Amino acid sequence: MTTRRSFLRQSVAASISAAAARSARGAASPAERVSVGFIGTGNQGMGLLNRFLAADLGDVAAVCDVNRGSKGYKEPDHFYGLEPARDLVAKKTGRASCDAFTDFRRLLDRKDIDAVVIVVPDHWHSRMTILAADAGKDIYCEKPLTFVVSEGRPMIDAVRRSKRILQTGSHERSNPISRFVCEAVRAGRIGKVQRVVTKVGFNNKVGPGPGWQPMPVPESFDYRAWLGPALQQPYHEDRCLYRFRFNYDYSGGQITNFGAHCNDMAHWGMGLDTGGPVEIECLDAKFLPEGSLFNTATETRFRCRYANGVELVCETGPESVQTRFEGTDGWLQTGYRGTTASDPALLEGLPQPGKGTGDPHSLHVANFVECVKTRAEPRAPVEVGHASSLLCHAANALIRLFPKTGPGVVATWDPAREAFVGNDEANRMLAREQRDPWS
Ligand SMILES: NC(=O)c1ccc[n+]([C@@H]2O[C@H](COP(=O)([O-])OP(=O)(O)OC[C@H]3O[C@@H](n4cnc5c(N)ncnc54)[C@H](O)[C@@H]3O)[C@@H](O)[C@H]2O)c1
Repeated sequence: MTTRRSFLRQSVAASISAAAARSARGAASPAERVSVGFIGTGNQGMGLLNRFLAADLGDVAAVCDVNRGSKGYKEPDHFYGLEPARDLVAKKTGRASCDAFTDFRRLLDRKDIDAVVIVVPDHWHSRMTILAADAGKDIYCEKPLTFVVSEGRPMIDAVRRSKRILQTGSHERSNPISRFVCEAVRAGRIGKVQRVVTKVGFNNKVGPGPGWQPMPVPESFDYRAWLGPALQQPYHEDRCLYRFRFNYDYSGGQITNFGAHCNDMAHWGMGLDTGGPVEIECLDAKFLPEGSLFNTATETRFRCRYANGVELVCETGPESVQTRFEGTDGWLQTGYRGTTASDPALLEGLPQPGKGTGDPHSLHVANFVECVKTRAEPRAPVEVGHASSLLCHAANALIRLFPKTGPGVVATWDPAREAFVGNDEANRMLAREQRDPWS
């Protein structure tokens, strides 16, 4: 007779031997179900978890978050975090529960977990990715892949050295409509590309102004673990959940949030997936008053030039994500508000939204799981995620200096060194001091 204990022993033994077999091959077999751990179950993490479960893409073995569960994410009544995620897995799978960790390193210790989905604030991405790669996990890591430029190369090294699959969460790479536009541009449909204009949305949240007062840390929230490598700062709820993207200590504002999407599409359409510009100039930048909790640019405009002469202009506007390619024979643009062209003939063959195009987030996670099984290259590999994040971070360095420098600073960028030429002040912003033990 199989007792509960012997059943558990057998299933643990089976999962250990399956993991050992996988690790001996350095890959999961296409026939096997993938076992996944979700790290960060907030706004985007819960969305991805829901999609993963709905499509039954594999087994969710564990979830991890430093917030046990609370409201106050993107919308005040969104209730996310560790316990809501664990409950969601139980509800959707009918299994009693999956494991729930507050320390992601305990999740990485689990030998039966093949892959992790990292959906935490940007200042954590590189630490978690490198530790996950070293622990033998394949990785889906949200965009922007890096928090600062200097993190990119070590992430690439870790992923390639350990022969792991890494998919950057640039889900537009799995959007058939974006694919159509970028491939059409690359195939010469608008002639020779001369200029690309990308748009990022305005801030969608309001933070406290100068004189804001610290708040007590909620009992369900491990603020120290949330900060991790970031410097110690007084707690305020608008510093953390969802709103971290408006503070340079954890993110880069809409330039890296939405910019990681539209500028990634720009690179894709230009055929410069892993390249970088040779010249960057900040044309305008506006900020909230000194002392505000949100300190990222509220409005900005920058331009850069690539070695092939193409110019890219990125600016804040009402569209959250938009990329427009201008060529010698017309223009094509795509984004969250749809796809248009200078001539309807340029749109011939465009997949229609909703008609078999699917949800890009789901398609992107499915592509990742498929690559975990087949060991094929995913649609947004680590080098691609690094290149599009790098452009946003390099521009942000000049944007942050703009109040001091004013317009007219045309900075030369060395794509090989991944640094500005002769601009020490901007170069200092390409790396960030990190708190022990994460330095
Ligand atoms: N691809 C997309 O379209 C898309 C959309 C939204 C967000 N994102 C990205 O997803 C990431 C998260 O954004 P969000 O809006 O979900 O933020 P969020 O604040 O809503 O969720 C992040 C979660 O991570 C948790 N967390 C923080 N540090 C942790 C740690 N050390 N260990 C475990 N959990 C930890 C937080 O407690 C929180 O629950 C960001 O990098 C963002 O750019 C991507």
